Amino acid sequence: MSIKFDKDKKLFHLFNKNFSYYFYINDANILEHLYFGAFLKNIDINEITNLGDSWGRHYLTKDNKEEVYKSHFTKDMSYLELGSFGTVDKRPAPIIIKNKNNSYYTDFKFLKFKIYHNLEEKEDFPLVFSKSKVDRLELTLKEVTRDIYLKLNYVVLDDVNTIIRYVKIISKEEGNFLTKVMSFELDLAKQNYNLIHFYGDWSFERNPELIKINHGYTRFSSFFGRSGHEENPSIIYLRDDTTEDYGECFLVNLIYSGNFLIENYVDRYDNLRILCGINDEALEIPLKKNEEILLPQVALTYSNNGLTALSQSSHNFIREHVIRSKFVHKERPILLNSWEGCYLDFNTQKIKRYIEGAYKVGANLFVLDDGWFTNRNTDFNGLGDREIEKEKINLKELIDYAHSLNIKFGLWFEPEMINLGTELYKVHPEYALRKAGVDIGLYRHQLVLDTSNDEVIDYLINKISYFLDNFNIDYIKWDHNRYLADVYSKIHPNASEGYLYHLITLGVYKLFNRLTKKYPDVLFEGCASGGGRFDLGMLYYTPQIWCSDETDPIQRTYIQYGTSFVYPLSTMGAHISKNQITSYKTKGEIALLGTYGLELDPYTLKDDEIQEIKEINGIFKEFHLDTVVNGDLYRLYNPFTSNLFGVNVVSKDKRKAILLLINYRKDNNKHRYIKFKGLDEGKVYKTNLENKCYSGDFLMKNGLNLSKWLNEFESFFVTLKEIDK
Ligand code: DGJ
Repeated sequence: MSIKFDKDKKLFHLFNKNFSYYFYINDANILEHLYFGAFLKNIDINEITNLGDSWGRHYLTKDNKEEVYKSHFTKDMSYLELGSFGTVDKRPAPIIIKNKNNSYYTDFKFLKFKIYHNLEEKEDFPLVFSKSKVDRLELTLKEVTRDIYLKLNYVVLDDVNTIIRYVKIISKEEGNFLTKVMSFELDLAKQNYNLIHFYGDWSFERNPELIKINHGYTRFSSFFGRSGHEENPSIIYLRDDTTEDYGECFLVNLIYSGNFLIENYVDRYDNLRILCGINDEALEIPLKKNEEILLPQVALTYSNNGLTALSQSSHNFIREHVIRSKFVHKERPILLNSWEGCYLDFNTQKIKRYIEGAYKVGANLFVLDDGWFTNRNTDFNGLGDREIEKEKINLKELIDYAHSLNIKFGLWFEPEMINLGTELYKVHPEYALRKAGVDIGLYRHQLVLDTSNDEVIDYLINKISYFLDNFNIDYIKWDHNRYLADVYSKIHPNASEGYLYHLITLGVYKLFNRLTKKYPDVLFEGCASGGGRFDLGMLYYTPQIWCSDETDPIQRTYIQYGTSFVYPLSTMGAHISKNQITSYKTKGEIALLGTYGLELDPYTLKDDEIQEIKEINGIFKEFHLDTVVNGDLYRLYNPFTSNLFGVNVVSKDKRKAILLLINYRKDNNKHRYIKFKGLDEGKVYKTNLENKCYSGDFLMKNGLNLSKWLNEFESFFVTLKEIDK
């Protein structure tokens, strides 16, 4: 049991052995937040709610039709589970509902609750799942001025130190609009909390940036129509003294792929309010009578032992409760992708040679990227019709050829997009999201399809199914090469932009849901101009996502390192490319810390380079599944703050481990001992360093001696395998 209710105190305790989350129903029927932190067996409500000089802590209410003053509570000073709008609480409100008279006053009070032992499931919407029994608390609240109800849900996933929170809105009357609806709120004393957010750009994704949370607003958001390169929908909050191995921190991560907002506000009392949910910009969701509106879930993960433990919990959470693909715990194929080798310039013969080359370098999945369909010799045209360009390729012949060599075959799609020159656009211009009469931004010469329209979804399902039904396709790379702007939908002509973006995202989920359910044996990899839609909504459907178009291995160490704070290594598409900055050995070692594969013309490889790659393939086969796919990551050296990149990854049973260290600037013969983390101190491990053996104890306490001259971008890769007793 991980949710307890104390009837006398009207107190809820959500917990596992590592954390506690307390709130209670106060006399005003408001849910007052009390505590979130390390496990705490008991709390004293009065002790926590005594907030100093309480000149303001009373309110006027009706008691038996008489107006009376009550004391000890006022909304503006207290920590709340759900703030209000238009009341004395001037912090940002989580939910704002506009009524027909243009009033936005919104205040929910507690009505009832129930504890369930199952999780909700909904077709077409990413919701966490669990193989074991879990507790779910659902509280029903009523808006005080209207017949509108809110169901506030909490799920405790005690195996991974995560609480899921989400809301559903049900209106029993017409004429209201949701103009803000944040799934998550956490009020706490700011004290010494800072935050790390993950900002970026194309080829520059998920840079961790540590900032102080100041008074007033600190907001992170996307209005790009997708979660985006620019900002990831996840934030880590940490104390001043928190390090990788020590201290308190927590992660807020939204399970959603569209426009989002994470809003932080510190008020005059030094209270920090954190809100997270879909972006409220230009948002007006009409509340239809009796329709239940489900909003995205937010995962709140806690660590009292530093950032590494937080990341490990997050990785476990994602692998166990988010990614629903059957591939999640499986060995991934070694992939050779055609993109950087030949871009759009190929024919059947050339691709056959690539497949043969894939065979020679030891890959077991070949992926034909962009360019295989009609009118796609440039990126000005072709997206939409999705007919095979027969002059260019014979798809069946290629697939048969790959399969004859025991190589799986994958194909690139960019389902959500359309070019203006296509037949589809001629026949169905309304399938594209486009605002009439304005200058439109044509990023990558393309428009976005209107996935808020079910007809468009059916069209896409039919088109893609044709390929999956008629060709033996084992893998799909699902790209998304522009962000959304100038949106207008013919079938939702009156939808506000913010709402339309949400409807489009819901349509994207329909599409992913139907295809991934229909073809469970196909491995899907997400992608969005590199890693522009790397979020939990996408991971629900695709077990891996191309991490970035930046294939310079050194640049990539930063991107993979940044991504690792939140997302498991096994989700990060990572390939060896032609880039000459480092040896193939080093490129391979970096790609090994992701899904692993290659992205080049295999015929440009010299024999010794193929040999280097084959050696890395050997490590992949022996170590990747137990460490990278299913193990625990430990960050050792932070490239953003030191001259080294360093991580080690340990299998769950601690029998295997790998370590990668990369030196950036040339470094003299300094005395260095590289300390591993997370090994079993009682085990003896054989290394790949001339087969030398070391105890886990020694490796963690003293560390490996690396007192030598380190060249620019020199890498140091160690494998450990327990010696059988
Ligand atoms: C962007 C992706 O990130 C690349 O890997 C490649 O698939 C191109 N799109 C193809 O257009």
